Amino acid sequence: MRGLREPCYRGSAMLSLDSLSKTYADGTHALDRIDLQVAAGEILALIGGSGCGKTTLLRLIAGLDTPSMGRISLDGEAITRPHPGVGLVFQEPRLLPWLDVADNVGFGLADRPRRERQERVAHALDRVGLSEHGRRWPRELSGGQQQRVSIARAFVASPRVLLLDEPFSALDAFTRKDLHRHLLGLWEEVRPTVLIVTHDVAEAVTLADRAVVMRPKPGRLDETLALPMARPRDPTSPGSEAATRNILAALDRSLRPIETRPKVVEAFAGGGSF
Ligand SMILES: Nc1ncnc2c1ncn2[C@@H]1O[C@H](COP(=O)(O)OP(=O)(O)OP(=O)(O)O)[C@@H](O)[C@H]1O
Ligand SMILES: [Mg+2]
Repeated sequence: MRGLREPCYRGSAMLSLDSLSKTYADGTHALDRIDLQVAAGEILALIGGSGCGKTTLLRLIAGLDTPSMGRISLDGEAITRPHPGVGLVFQEPRLLPWLDVADNVGFGLADRPRRERQERVAHALDRVGLSEHGRRWPRELSGGQQQRVSIARAFVASPRVLLLDEPFSALDAFTRKDLHRHLLGLWEEVRPTVLIVTHDVAEAVTLADRAVVMRPKPGRLDETLALPMARPRDPTSPGSEAATRNILAALDRSLRPIETRPKVVEAFAGGGSF
């Protein structure tokens, strides 16, 4: 069977955001001079309070909206519109109700030969544990199963960059853990560069190589924290517990004005390069 390693788009990517700003038409200054480099195959978690521009940032990278200033590039190539090498998973599954599960997963592969499409879909469904459900309708699946379909759909074209906007936040803790396992399994196979927005610090500690904390009004990058623990990760290990404490402390600082922070923290703060 054809695996996802024989991709439509080969290899993962270096994603670069240079002085990226976004002001909406109504004057809302959503993002201010974001500088960020994400390495090939890296998993980066974006964390921050509501309204600090996380979704805006993902939509810009996906090419669904245009920045007011600055540049986004993937391996040196500017992204100015939706790019076939960039996959997106939203908070809700957004499946097409008139297509069955297999056709939802294969939707983006319409230009591929039929046999290749079938093999890739079968493999992706197998990797998320839904081999038996290809001919079912989305409405016949649970919320967690539907989100597994949307993850399979995102991976089926072997994206170079995968963007996930709070993909598991509507799910119970048990289902979320299961989906983390599926996501990491697919990531190991395809190795895309991943940006995941989450409000769940434990999720960031389970999945990411780095956590970037944002601060609001306007949205900026505030602090970055390396998460170098080996995978699979044990949330009760000293490394995971220390990482959790550090992210929570950084989130707490992100809500305070820069001027009121202790000097040692100021050294990390600001919209600098990460
Ligand atoms: N289309 C739009 N027009 C005007 N303002 C917008 C638009 N979309 C988002 N905003 C504003 O931009 C800011 C950032 O919004 P965004 O949705 O990116 O935040 P977020 O970090 O994803 O928040 P949450 O955690 O609640 O999802 C907010 O002040 C929001 O009201
Ligand atoms: Mg959002």
